[in-house]
Amino acid sequence: MSDAALLHRCAQRAGLSRIERGDGIGPRTRWNLLQRPGKDGAKGLTIKGRRPSKDDPSRAQRDREYDYKKRFYRSAQVAEDYDFHRWGTKERARRNARKWATILRGLSYTERVQTILDLPCGTGRFTGPLSGRGYEVVGSDISREMMGQAAARSEGIDRIWGYVQADAEGLPFPDGAFDCVMSIRFLFHIDPETRVEILREMARVSRRWLILDYRHRYNYRYAMWTLKTFLGLRTTPLKRVSLEELRSECSRAGLSIKKIIPVVRIFSDKWIVVCEAVTPEGDS
Ligand SMILES: C[S@@+](CC[C@H](N)C(=O)[O-])C[C@H]1O[C@@H](n2cnc3c(N)ncnc32)[C@H](O)[C@@H]1O
Repeated sequence: MSDAALLHRCAQRAGLSRIERGDGIGPRTRWNLLQRPGKDGAKGLTIKGRRPSKDDPSRAQRDREYDYKKRFYRSAQVAEDYDFHRWGTKERARRNARKWATILRGLSYTERVQTILDLPCGTGRFTGPLSGRGYEVVGSDISREMMGQAAARSEGIDRIWGYVQADAEGLPFPDGAFDCVMSIRFLFHIDPETRVEILREMARVSRRWLILDYRHRYNYRYAMWTLKTFLGLRTTPLKRVSLEELRSECSRAGLSIKKIIPVVRIFSDKWIVVCEAVTPEGDS
């Protein structure tokens, strides 16, 4: 299939009339952060005399509920600070690169994926790198401010079809619009009931695949946190899923788990979970 035909199909399936192309300001070179992590990447975001800290505008309060997180990123100040806070040091850039490597491993378990919905795309941390790997990508997020940052970076990248402001609880895309939906650094903000609703919605707009970022219990940090909570040194418990909870949520959302990939064993609480949307009985 020619590039033009592929783009046309992607546009049709994603309901292009709803897609807003980014207005394209600024350079696209910052994708190098993910492609070449470490020294150069970290340097790109270093602000002289400043290191990411707990006081950064984009550091959300951890123990707040989903409604707060849903509103929090809808701020220009938060959106502008987000990338610096997320990977403004070498260690954070490395962590980011490990996550990307795990996402790529996850994608290697999928088949015939050309179009991906990056939801929520935030400032486009993975939107550009996905397009760099040859995927046709649409970014979507509830925050125009976050997507504005993503759009500024993605000018001229043909395989990024654009950005759609949407609430993951009710997406404006037709059924099966994308081959795959990818959701990074999002689901752990959400209470389990709403999470299942959102997973169902993601499954609806995916033809088959979902790449999900889940936070689990089987790691050092969770063990220490739990111990400190038990000893009264921490007041809020860390909400992380067990394997059984993950399986139950996926099954209730109509997903079958194909692969669970830890980002780093023992020291990280992140799983990249590759799922397939289960076709309802009777559908061909
Ligand atoms: C921590 S950021 C993660 C963004 C990106 N995936 C990344 O890894 O950098 C969380 C994003 O979720 C978005 N968000 C929160 N609630 C949402 C909802 N109900 N629907 C769509 N996006 C939502 C926020 O606006 C924010 O951009």
